[in-house]
Formats: sequence, C-alpha cells, structure tokens
Amino acid sequence: MNPDLDALHPYPFEKLAALKAKLIAPTDLDPIPLTIGEPQHAPFAAALKKLHAHQAEFARYPATAGLPGLRQTIANWASARFSLQALDAETQVLPVNGTREAIFAFVQAALDQTRPAKVAVPNPFYQIYEGATLLAGGEPLYLDCTAENGFRPNFSAVPADTWREVQIVFVCSPGNPTGAVTPVEEFKQLIKLADEFDFIIASDECYSELYLDEAHPPPGLLQACAELNRHDYQRCLVFHSLSKRSNLPGLRSGFVAGDAALIAPFKRYRTYHGCAMSLPLQHASIAAWQDEAHVRANREAYREKFAAVTQELAPVLDFPTPEASFYLWPAVPGGDDIAFTQRLFEQAHVSVLPGSLMGSVGTSGVNPGSGRLRLALVAELAPTLEAAQRIRRVIERG
Ligand SMILES: Cc1ncc(COP(=O)(O)O)c(C=O)c1O
Repeated sequence: MNPDLDALHPYPFEKLAALKAKLIAPTDLDPIPLTIGEPQHAPFAAALKKLHAHQAEFARYPATAGLPGLRQTIANWASARFSLQALDAETQVLPVNGTREAIFAFVQAALDQTRPAKVAVPNPFYQIYEGATLLAGGEPLYLDCTAENGFRPNFSAVPADTWREVQIVFVCSPGNPTGAVTPVEEFKQLIKLADEFDFIIASDECYSELYLDEAHPPPGLLQACAELNRHDYQRCLVFHSLSKRSNLPGLRSGFVAGDAALIAPFKRYRTYHGCAMSLPLQHASIAAWQDEAHVRANREAYREKFAAVTQELAPVLDFPTPEASFYLWPAVPGGDDIAFTQRLFEQAHVSVLPGSLMGSVGTSGVNPGSGRLRLALVAELAPTLEAAQRIRRVIERG
C-alpha cells in the first residue's frame, strides 16, 4: 500500500471516541450530541420526490460533466447569489459528490510534486484539507485563526519566501469551526497574492447559505473576482454543497465553479476516477438549487436556535458571535478543552468536540484550537437548548 496513507491522522471523531471510551455518562439523561456537523432539520422534500420520480435512470451511466440542465441550474444559482456575469455552464461549472469528495480529489489532481508543494490551510481546520494534502505529497502550512485576527488567517503575515512554495490556499468561509466570514476585500487581497506568487485559491463555501443576518449573505471568492472584473476567475475555484443548504448531506451533491483552466483538467481526472453523480441525484439537485424558500426557512430555524442558545450560554461562556454556519466556538472555562469535554459527557451526557482535535501547532507555535470547543447546533431547537442548559449547569456547579 501507499506509505503516505500512514501520514493520515485519525479523524477527530475517532480521537473523541477514545477520549470517552472509559467514561460513564449519567443514565437518567438522554445523550445529546453536539459533535458531528450533520444537519438534523428536515431535508428538502421536493428533491426527494424528484429522486423517486427519476429512479428508473439508475439504469443508466451518468457522465462526469453532469447533465447540461444541472450545470445550467448551478450556473444560474451561483451567478445570481454572488452577482456574477453569467457563469459558463459548459466550462466554469462541474457537479461533484459533495464538497468533501471534491476538495480531496482536487488536491490530488492539482498538486505538482516536482516542486515545493505547500498547501495553506486555516487552523483549526476541516480535516480533509490536511489529509488531501498529505496524501498528494504536499506539506500543510497551518495559518492560525485566533481571536486576535477575527478567527481568520492573516495572509499578510506570510513571508514572500513561503508564498513562493505555496501551490494551493484553502479558504473556509463561513468557517468551520469558527463561523467567521471572510470579507470581500480580504478575498481581493488574496487574489492579488495568488497572481503575485502563482497559487490556486480553493474556497470552501459549503456553509455560505446558513447566515444569521438575512440582509447580509456572506460574500464568496467568485464575487470578489467579479468585482475585480476578473470574469475568467483565474486561479480561483469555489466549492459548494447541498448538504447544509438543503439538509441533504446523504445526497452527496455539490459543485465546483470558477477558472475553466482548472476545471478542464480536474474533469479529466474525474473521468478516470469514476465519480460521476448518478442521474436521479442530479434531478434531485436541480430541484434543490432552484428553490430558495426552503433555504430561507432553514436559516430562520438556525436563527431561532442561535438566539436561544446564545441567551443561555453567553452569561457563562465567551464565544464570538457567529455570522454564519451552525457552530459555536466558545473558550473553555479553565482552558482545558479535553478535560471539559470529558466533564460534560460524565456530568451532563452532552458530547462536544474539543477544539484541539480540530487544530494543529501552527504559525504561532501553539494549537489555536486548544482551549475551545466546537458545538454543532444541528439538532432541533428543543434538544439543542436542553444541551445548552445542561452545559450551563455544569459550569455553574464549578
Ligand atoms: C468546512 C467543510 N467543508 C466541507 C464539508 C463537507 O461537506 P459535504 O461533502 O457534505 O458537502 C464539511 C462537512 O461538514 C465542512 O464542515
């Protein structure tokens, strides 16, 4: 087997299971997981109906490029959402089986191992950026996202010599686990750096539709390109998904869009890889991208939940007010995120993800995830609020 496989770290949830293995939770309390970012709100029903209506098409092989109708629907959606001159559905859009798969595959296809191959990732980070980099023979460059820099990487602090070795920069906006949103001006600054040092910007925007202020949707990388009159989106690629937007994480449906010069070789790679999306899933996806009413209702449900949980936890925990995503990223009283996670499980039967499991020792010499927790507010309002109340009781008990 490929020895690079040994470089892949155990997934945070495996580490968490090991941390909890010997602990005993109170049996009189139902377990409440705030760990995995799997939406529990109802999936978009019309998409599921389409899946059934088109089930006979499971009998056909799908093409890697996807149906023209799906590509056009995606192009229309992204162009309207991010104020783009019409995206070209032929060359600037590619359906993928969710952003995780696409992020992983893109790094394998894009990284040139014949020269230094650093991949900049926000730290703490979604694990796939790191795993994809390691398996592709690259070296992660961890850019710390701390309270001091608004939980976003400080790109201007990276020295020119380091930039010269960077081939891909991952942006995660809205961020997992911090909920931080990259402002459009910061995207523009990064695009300037990409031109200067010739790297690709891969912007993971899978939480872009879960935002708290209805009047201020998070900007995206392609929007920044368009504002710079860069309608070829040179060096830029965005990753989007129906998993969070439409509560369809099991559908495995998303897209990449941007620079046609990146999409064409990526499509060639995918043709060999054999990861075309099946036709009934494509029809379901068309229905989902064409409808905004269910997405607005989804946001409303998150808003209500964030308000209730914030009211409960703000008096006892310090956390940045998230602009988007479905996570809270509080600092842990006492600073030991592992011990506090174990205490919450033992005393309250609430599972959370210790921040240190999502980070690595980065630019500042410490793991910026340590001392924090990731709380995924994915369950319905009542159990999520109940979890917040239990966390508060544990803290108040001291
Ligand atoms: C930051 C980030 N990117 C990508 C994904 C993958 O989502 P999907 O593959 O379902 O689109 C997740 C899932 O939790 C995530 O948190």
